[in-house]
Amino acid sequence: MNLNTLPKIELHTHLEGAAPPEFIRRLAQEKHMDLSGVFDDAGNYAFDNFLHFLKVYEAATAVLQTPEDYHRLTLAVLEKSAANGVIYTENFVSPDFCGGGDLGAWKEYVHAMQDASDMAEKSHGIVLKGIVTPIRHFEVGKAKEVAHCAVETFGDWVVGFGIGGDEGAGKFSDFAYAYDMAREAGMHLTAHAGEFAGAQSVRSAIRDLGVSRIGHGVRAIEDMSVVEELVERDVVLEVCPGSNIALGLFPNWEDHPIARLRDAGVKVTVSTDDPPFFHTTMNDEYNNLARAFSWGEDVFKEINITAANAAFCDDATRKMLLEKLE
Ligand code: ADE
Ligand code: ZN
Repeated sequence: MNLNTLPKIELHTHLEGAAPPEFIRRLAQEKHMDLSGVFDDAGNYAFDNFLHFLKVYEAATAVLQTPEDYHRLTLAVLEKSAANGVIYTENFVSPDFCGGGDLGAWKEYVHAMQDASDMAEKSHGIVLKGIVTPIRHFEVGKAKEVAHCAVETFGDWVVGFGIGGDEGAGKFSDFAYAYDMAREAGMHLTAHAGEFAGAQSVRSAIRDLGVSRIGHGVRAIEDMSVVEELVERDVVLEVCPGSNIALGLFPNWEDHPIARLRDAGVKVTVSTDDPPFFHTTMNDEYNNLARAFSWGEDVFKEINITAANAAFCDDATRKMLLEKLE
């Protein structure tokens, strides 16, 4: 069984978090920017825990300053994804990082990312769509600005809205207004929950924000009534096992709850989150899951069909993806 050549659908990656370290270093050199504290001696991203990870992430992201930088980043990230068999991917992108919340600037960044994704589709056959992400630990007021940017650029490329960042900051109900703006515009909704907060955060994301997908959501396993709610409401989890293990949520692959959630009837999908930060790739995720749970190609096919059906894309793209998975 060669999982590396299997066509894959990835629903949860952060564009900046997928930046290869050498890409960030090159940009920093070009701009004469100091990145001390971001890399270890081997040149990998270095952090001790989740909150430190978020700080290092933001420090690395600071070198990305123009639409042209994001154009180059998008091409570099999609090339790596395609090399792992990914045929469709959704990336979290943030108006906070792309133009500081200014709508005019954000439109230029979206144009650049969309142009790069058109180029990658032609050269590598990979499709990218954007999910606009408010950063939870930035001011709550910022989320409305971000939702405004999201709504104004919602269309063929910007398709979804999904909060990320520190789950310890604020409550989901603080962000309900921003989610209402996105929902009323017709955007698809997801939210990071049940990663560093417990099962109740998953319930709150479903009930207070009305999301159809959850980023991570794996700590739902701590309360079977939340697992049942996921099943009843047909909510899809964007599970990133390598990320969870790298950040210490679970000690190893065998103890990761993805298989137990799937066995309980929850719809699970597989993604990398921030692949170079967590020393993972889509091929690594698949090979580690196959080893830990004796999953064969049939399980991965089922997972990819689940992902295609839960993707925030238009129906023509979904049909094309489902045909490719057959
Ligand atoms: N931003 C980038 N990666 C993240 C993660 N794993 N959780 C929350 N916010 C993030
Ligand atoms: Zn994430």
